[in-house]
Amino acid sequence: MLNVSELTVDIQGSRILRGISLEVRAGELVCLLGRNGAGKTTTFRSLMGYLRPVSGRISWEDKDLARLSTWQIAQLGIGFSPEESEVYADLTVEENIELPTWTRTCGRPAAERISEAYRIFPKLERYRKRGGAELSGGERKMVSIARALALDAELLLLDEPFEGLSPAIIPLVAEGVAAIRQSGKAIVMAESNLHHVPDYIDKLVVIERGEIIYTGSLSGALGDVEVMKIIAGAVDAEPQT
Ligand SMILES: Nc1ncnc2c1ncn2[C@@H]1O[C@H](COP(=O)(O)OP(=O)(O)O)[C@@H](O)[C@H]1O
Ligand SMILES: [Mg+2]
Repeated sequence: MLNVSELTVDIQGSRILRGISLEVRAGELVCLLGRNGAGKTTTFRSLMGYLRPVSGRISWEDKDLARLSTWQIAQLGIGFSPEESEVYADLTVEENIELPTWTRTCGRPAAERISEAYRIFPKLERYRKRGGAELSGGERKMVSIARALALDAELLLLDEPFEGLSPAIIPLVAEGVAAIRQSGKAIVMAESNLHHVPDYIDKLVVIERGEIIYTGSLSGALGDVEVMKIIAGAVDAEPQT
């Protein structure tokens, strides 16, 4: 479905991604784990066309994404929930979620897409008329993921969906992620904290200083001393924030 091969990306003259490769198959839940600054957000921003790679390929069902603009990539059915959620403060919850049904008119009927988003995050249905500025961090995160879902995406990129959320709200977001995966959509989830990685992921990809240092099962990573040094570092890095 998505194939990233030897992707190299510079930001302001600094090499940030150093030839990363990863593959996502239909319906898979892939976790991209790495410490703060490892290059997870840069990977997502490159996939979404916000950054142009120096070299490498990003292909989506045989289309070369690296040549397309962000709106064209979204039109293909790749939904992005950024790290900072980026919910429109002057729109209501309902309007935020409806937006992609106006911009991407192919796919299933708008009403079906919106009701699916509310099925995944029932709390949002009660908050439909609430303004984007009147939401907690966890609610904004849910709106951001629900909005990506309403794109009728086949692949969702979720950048640190649990970052900065209160312990009470993490399970609500985690249930949503599990339900999205149950519905057959592929997900790539970026995480900096090993404790937030769901045990039912299909594949773990560990990134460190812009390089992929491990691709395989979660249990395989837990048994790999070199990888655990990095992952344990990811856990240790948590209190910094
Ligand atoms: N706009 C930018 N300008 C300069 N450096 C950047 C910029 N964005 C990211 N970086 C650098 O790229 C590296 C990777 O960042 P990022 O992809 O945000 O990491 P992660 O999401 O894994 O925490 C970091 O060293 C960061 O400082
Ligand atoms: Mg990040």
